[in-house]
Amino acid sequence: MRKPLVMGNWKLNGTKQSVSDLIKAFVEPANRTAGKVDVAICAPAIFIGTVESLAKGSSLQYGSEDCDIHTKGAFTGENSPEMIKEFGCTYAIVGHSERRGYHNESNEYVAQKFKAALDSGLVPVLCVGESEAEYDAGKTMEVVNAEIKAVIDLCGIDSFKNAVIAYEPIWAIGTGKTATPEVAQNVHRQIRDFLKTFSSEVADGTRILYGGSCNAKTAPELFSQADIDGGLIGGASLKAPDFTAIIAAAEANA
Ligand code: PGA
Repeated sequence: MRKPLVMGNWKLNGTKQSVSDLIKAFVEPANRTAGKVDVAICAPAIFIGTVESLAKGSSLQYGSEDCDIHTKGAFTGENSPEMIKEFGCTYAIVGHSERRGYHNESNEYVAQKFKAALDSGLVPVLCVGESEAEYDAGKTMEVVNAEIKAVIDLCGIDSFKNAVIAYEPIWAIGTGKTATPEVAQNVHRQIRDFLKTFSSEVADGTRILYGGSCNAKTAPELFSQADIDGGLIGGASLKAPDFTAIIAAAEANA
């Protein structure tokens, strides 16, 4: 069945010292739970080389928080999927709501990032989720399905055999307002139903993570839901005891 994935997303946080402390703290739980849970950290690009050397030989996986659509060229400030792959990354987050919002990334542009990551041998982690206004207006599935459909249109449904979806309601990110397990499960099930309209095999196999103020307290119940296959963890992945507890919650439900 689907192996749970607990992925940290450090965003724009960290120092050489904190990166070293946190990666050292996560290697042990990642190794201990490796048969049951995948554990990964997505770090700012400038720290990925450090993460690579600290995680070497361990079961701790890692990835980038974003990637460009190009392989190389005159695109100042960007990081290509090939570069990311060369540093041993397994994953690349694409379409995080902070990228969609602050950098005006459209569904079609995110789909191109997804394709670029996949073409380079990375596992894209496609973030989807609605704003508070869209949630209140009952538009969650309209928004989320459109974000997924843009990828299916460009890459085909089978591309999700090598990808992960993270449902992150924007109103829950960094706000302390976690979606209740029932609300989250309901959306995750509907995402799986949507995938099923294209392929039952892909729908059954695709890992769908929950993200948005997921922490050591809320993770156990969230992870016990049938269609929640782990979490994309922001703030709590910057605290070793909290992230370690979240890994344990995933292990308990694996
Ligand atoms: P949060 O962030 O856990 O701090 O809410 C999650 C995310 O944005 O990936």
